[in-house]
Amino acid sequence: MRRPITRALTGVLGLIAAAAGPLGTAGTAHADSVVVGGQPAGITESPWVVALSSRDRFGGTRAGQFCGGVVVAPTKVLTAAHCLGREVLGGTPGQLSDFSVIAGRTSLRGHGGREVRVADTWVNPDYDPSTNSGDLAVLTLARALPESYAIEPARPGDAALAEGTAANVYGWGDTTGNGTYAMSLRSARVRVLPDTACERAYPGGDGAAYRGDTMLCAGDPRGGHDACQGDSGGPLVARGRLIGLVSWGSGCGQAENPGVYTRVSALLPRHF
Ligand code: ARG
Repeated sequence: MRRPITRALTGVLGLIAAAAGPLGTAGTAHADSVVVGGQPAGITESPWVVALSSRDRFGGTRAGQFCGGVVVAPTKVLTAAHCLGREVLGGTPGQLSDFSVIAGRTSLRGHGGREVRVADTWVNPDYDPSTNSGDLAVLTLARALPESYAIEPARPGDAALAEGTAANVYGWGDTTGNGTYAMSLRSARVRVLPDTACERAYPGGDGAAYRGDTMLCAGDPRGGHDACQGDSGGPLVARGRLIGLVSWGSGCGQAENPGVYTRVSALLPRHF
């Protein structure tokens, strides 16, 4: 059965399963597709992107990066609920001795910016791991980041959510669909797609089902630009507002299988 649950870290751990990802099979991305869009991004221009890190669990080679996150207030970071699941962390977030976010750093090899401990985690009680609906968690940081790092989340009805809007997705995830993880932050240009595009790709049955009320569909109608494993929890930004968090998809960068994002505008007002 196809499942929407992440395998974000399997590649980091060097397991073969990494390439398979949650829904796709190894090598399903086209050879020429540059999954996270093929362009380096700088943290100065996108200071709201952070890496979730635990070197104890994921090793130090890539600074312990295992998911993305996004700063929405000096001590608040949004990420995907599935990033904090037992399947990813091997336990509860509280059991990680060194759970931190890395802010202000473009390269995972670098030393710029800062690492701030996660003091508290909140997982959306409506998150359903079996469907990935409501894939949102909020991290409270032990120390405040600069106010200027925060990005404003879109509200329901925001023009940034309209079909066809150009958006950028950011992350340190897989750039090929084969388990090649980025060292430096990248971004890919995609478009907000109609719910019907994801309903067609993910009709449910014995596979994953797309739900437009809690999820947002975005991708490249011609394929080649998409988020991928390891990007989960990271931001999808349009018109300067946060519209989505990387959540799931089948393979990476395939025209017929768009990326599925957490619809931040639908989930935030209820919880803040
Ligand atoms: N679940 C993946 C992660 O944990 C994200 C997959 C996104 N896939 C996509 N084709 N947009 O990193």
